[in-house]
Amino acid sequence: MKAKLEEIRARAHQELANADLKESVEALRVKYCGKKGELTAILKQMGKLSAEERPIIGQLANEVRTNIENAIDEKKKQLAEAKLENQLREETIDVTLPGDTMPLGHKHPLSIVLDEIKEIFIGMGFEIVDGPEVEYDYYNFEALNIPKDHPARDTQDTFYITDNIVLRTQTSPVQVRVMEKQKPPIRIISPGRVFRSDAVDATHSPLFHQIEGLVVDKDITFADLKGTLDTFIKRLYGDDSVVRFRPHHFPFTEPSAEVDVQCFSCKGKGCRVCKGEGWIEILGCGMVHPKVLENCGIDSEEYTGFAFGLGLERVAMRRYGVDDMRLFFENDTRFLSQF
Ligand code: DAH
Repeated sequence: MKAKLEEIRARAHQELANADLKESVEALRVKYCGKKGELTAILKQMGKLSAEERPIIGQLANEVRTNIENAIDEKKKQLAEAKLENQLREETIDVTLPGDTMPLGHKHPLSIVLDEIKEIFIGMGFEIVDGPEVEYDYYNFEALNIPKDHPARDTQDTFYITDNIVLRTQTSPVQVRVMEKQKPPIRIISPGRVFRSDAVDATHSPLFHQIEGLVVDKDITFADLKGTLDTFIKRLYGDDSVVRFRPHHFPFTEPSAEVDVQCFSCKGKGCRVCKGEGWIEILGCGMVHPKVLENCGIDSEEYTGFAFGLGLERVAMRRYGVDDMRLFFENDTRFLSQF
């Protein structure tokens, strides 16, 4: 029996050495020390022993049991420690590793150009004002000297909401709103969205942006208009830009002009960019029509003013060499991320 106990002890240690899972260690505990385990089975046979042998074997059996139980506890502890160590190693965070970079958003090209234009005019003492996109016919047309039967209405394919309310086709109505509220001196620009029911193509969109400008004071002349716009264009496109004023007609200005810059690509010779013209149209302008001043309660004998309007998309297209306006509105990040 003594030999049997030693054999059990040796076998238990060997099997324990090979066990590498908590579950298999627990199985060994049941196998050797459990109620139906091998040691218990041996102890049950103690009755067959002689009175002298019984305490000796009994003592040995208890010693073997304690020994195996201790070894099992020790093994369990080792496994738990190894598991924890492994977990710590696997979950280590290396704070020196560079993080995953998040793609950074940035300004839309139209916003970049608009901010630049605002800065230029702020630098010349202009204020920036806002106006409604849903506008009365009166402000969008009537007060600007465009009565109901005026042919200029045909060129601005208007979205009507009711007979009297439209989506503004231009930012010019802001002129009227400002002059109604504010007495001269007035020096403002008003950027914003405008709407025309145009078919979409590379140079037309039902929604686009204009920037309106208005200066009203005593003794404002066409020379002030020329000086201001010439300075603006040179700041925007560079000091070597060549600017030309060409007579034109707008119902709300008299006299009126369109302003061209000499083509940057061909320096006036005529190329694909300027469609052979040598010049590129930038904006419309003129001296505020006396009727418009009077419509807003400003005495046209005492005050004069000039106004201008430019299309933001055109400026941005030229600035960045974009040949299709639709790109500005499609929000394709492959396009937008280039700016
Ligand atoms: N509102 C005009 C348009 O949409 C642009 C314009 C021309 C505005 C001359 C003005 C101006 O203020 O004086 O075509």
